[in-house]
Amino acid sequence: MNSQNKSSGKCDSEKKDLQIRVPYIDFNAQYNEIKEEILKEITCVLEKGSFVLGKELVKFEKNFASYTGTKYALGVANGTDALFLVMKALDIGKGDEVITVPNTFIATAGAIVAAGAKPVFVDVKNDFNINPELIDNVVTKNTKAIIPVHLTGRVADMDSILEIAKKHKLHVIEDAAQSVGARYKGKRAGSFGIAAGFSLHPLKNLNAAGDAGLVTTNSGELHEKLVLLRNHGLKNRDECACWGYNSRLDCLQAVIANVKLKHLDKWTEKIREIANIYKDGLKSFVGKGIISVPVDHPFEEPVYHTFIIQCEKRDELQAFLFEKGIKTKIHYPIPIHLHEAASGLGYKKGDFPVAEQQAKIILSLPIYPEMSDEQVAIVIDEIKSFYGRFTLS
Ligand SMILES: Cc1ncc(COP(=O)(O)O)c(C=O)c1O
Repeated sequence: MNSQNKSSGKCDSEKKDLQIRVPYIDFNAQYNEIKEEILKEITCVLEKGSFVLGKELVKFEKNFASYTGTKYALGVANGTDALFLVMKALDIGKGDEVITVPNTFIATAGAIVAAGAKPVFVDVKNDFNINPELIDNVVTKNTKAIIPVHLTGRVADMDSILEIAKKHKLHVIEDAAQSVGARYKGKRAGSFGIAAGFSLHPLKNLNAAGDAGLVTTNSGELHEKLVLLRNHGLKNRDECACWGYNSRLDCLQAVIANVKLKHLDKWTEKIREIANIYKDGLKSFVGKGIISVPVDHPFEEPVYHTFIIQCEKRDELQAFLFEKGIKTKIHYPIPIHLHEAASGLGYKKGDFPVAEQQAKIILSLPIYPEMSDEQVAIVIDEIKSFYGRFTLS
């Protein structure tokens, strides 16, 4: 610690944050809003000493199932494990292929590989979700499942996906990590396929204080298998029915997420309001074709886990906003098939033109319920100020 830091009592990263006018996320603001509720629940778990597979977990699972409109929800260690365990429970493994998208977080493909299967990618549409028209082309005799990712908090085109899956007798496993609460034709994300995986990672709309995840399903049989798989295959304390894993959601995380679940719809409403303010504030650039913003269809209610614009001069804009104290992110800069890890899958640059082009022009603006009107206005004004400096094509 240098002398300056000693005197101010701030570490370097805290000092840098002081200049940030709009952080990408504000964990403190959310915590302060619900601090008392959270601390009360945590204290209760600590006092009871019931940390693993306790009543609090069961309570949260019931609430989550009811929230998503599914029969069962099962807490697991994280969203990646949720997808992995579902594939294991469905006997998907060596020699099998699972269709998904190349523009998702690496974990979707990672879970497929961890299960022993091969990820097969399909390009996406302008809304960042899988293009169902391209799925037929990649189905082979080895295909076992489709994992549509409801990226950005928008549910994929489930009518078309379910129809294709039925035609080829494939499982549909939703990657709902980014879409808790989102609706498509009135139904919530996580209630369409044989099962869905959710993440409660701190950056997600519904989050825990660390890693956590859930599987939802309407299948009693699948639920039973997953109950075993997440806990070493144990039927009870002493008898093991099958080889399994240690992937339980602990009670401390469950009570935190359970408190937040009560606030989720209110928070989502606020996020959707901010999305509309962004859309309105940026519409002159949308009209000129400089920026494109997400478009909602009447049949869907996305939850805007991310608000992603596609824009000209993306890298310069991001650097400019950073200079002005606004943090943005890119979800995701490298499509999965172009990562070193994926080199054995046989893909090359140019295989997924839409996803590859999007990776070059996407920018995620800050969006969270605790953002003030002033902060939203700052982001819009600085984007206007950036493009005001150029005569763009
Ligand atoms: C689309 C998607 N799939 C899967 C995951 C994996 O979730 P987790 O980080 O909880 O393992 C994430 C979250 O990071 C995600 O965004």
